[in-house]
Amino acid sequence: MAHVVVVGADRGIAAGLVRVYKARGDDVTAVCLHDGADWHAEGVQVIADTDVTSDSAVQRMAQQLAGVPVDILLCVAGVGATDRWGRFDFDAMLAHYNLNALGPLRVVNALSDNLAEGGKIGIVTSRMGSISDNQSGHMYSYRMSKAAANMLGVNLHHQFRSRGVYVMLLHPGTVATDMTRGAKSWDSFTRPEESAAGLARQMDALGADTPPEFRHQDGTLLPW
Ligand SMILES: NC(=O)c1ccc[n+]([C@@H]2O[C@H](COP(=O)([O-])OP(=O)(O)OC[C@H]3O[C@@H](n4cnc5c(N)ncnc54)[C@H](OP(=O)(O)O)[C@@H]3O)[C@@H](O)[C@H]2O)c1
Repeated sequence: MAHVVVVGADRGIAAGLVRVYKARGDDVTAVCLHDGADWHAEGVQVIADTDVTSDSAVQRMAQQLAGVPVDILLCVAGVGATDRWGRFDFDAMLAHYNLNALGPLRVVNALSDNLAEGGKIGIVTSRMGSISDNQSGHMYSYRMSKAAANMLGVNLHHQFRSRGVYVMLLHPGTVATDMTRGAKSWDSFTRPEESAAGLARQMDALGADTPPEFRHQDGTLLPW
């Protein structure tokens, strides 16, 4: 039984991950932005009020896990953003970067001591952060923050590999969550639980021999 910590677990893909690992019999901690009250009924441990853009909130979260080994750490919290050429809100873009790019770094930094040999870190970024896959432009803030998150993951790979802790960058697919609600054909998007099951399979395959990789939940290797 692994201890799995899922960050950003109030809803969406992260909530799917909590359920996938719980169903496998793992010990799951849901780190939530809000109170996470619904998780108690499902037997999931909750660490509430964890805004990953806040140093003090992330430190409080880490204090609650002090001395507790973490086998799998999944950084999922993130938001989408639309922006328009000529009408950028740079303060909003900085806040967005703080969440999508610095959020996972803040969390991994705070839980570094909890990750023992054999531990794994998964960061959910997005294909939109791929530089060579960018064939349509736009979405400046989202693309730039997710590209930075991909860079973070490769850096973490180098940071942790001598400790026997492995890192993978993950794309969840196009998933029917609140983030994408309202998009054309939303009903046909991948369900959060299906995406989560695929993400868990990629984490299962992650090990000592895995180079820095960016994987779709369906297993496809994605370009940086
Ligand atoms: N859906 C897709 O098609 C898709 C595609 C590619 C990548 N992704 C990535 O997958 C991840 C999850 O997305 P999703 O589709 O599941 O979105 P979602 O349903 O909107 O869920 C996002 C989660 O992040 C939490 N969150 C937002 N700001 C936070 C903060 N400052 N600190 C901690 N948690 C925070 C949200 O909490 P609240 O509920 O309170 O807001 C929510 O639980 C994101 O990183 C996203 O970029 C999604």
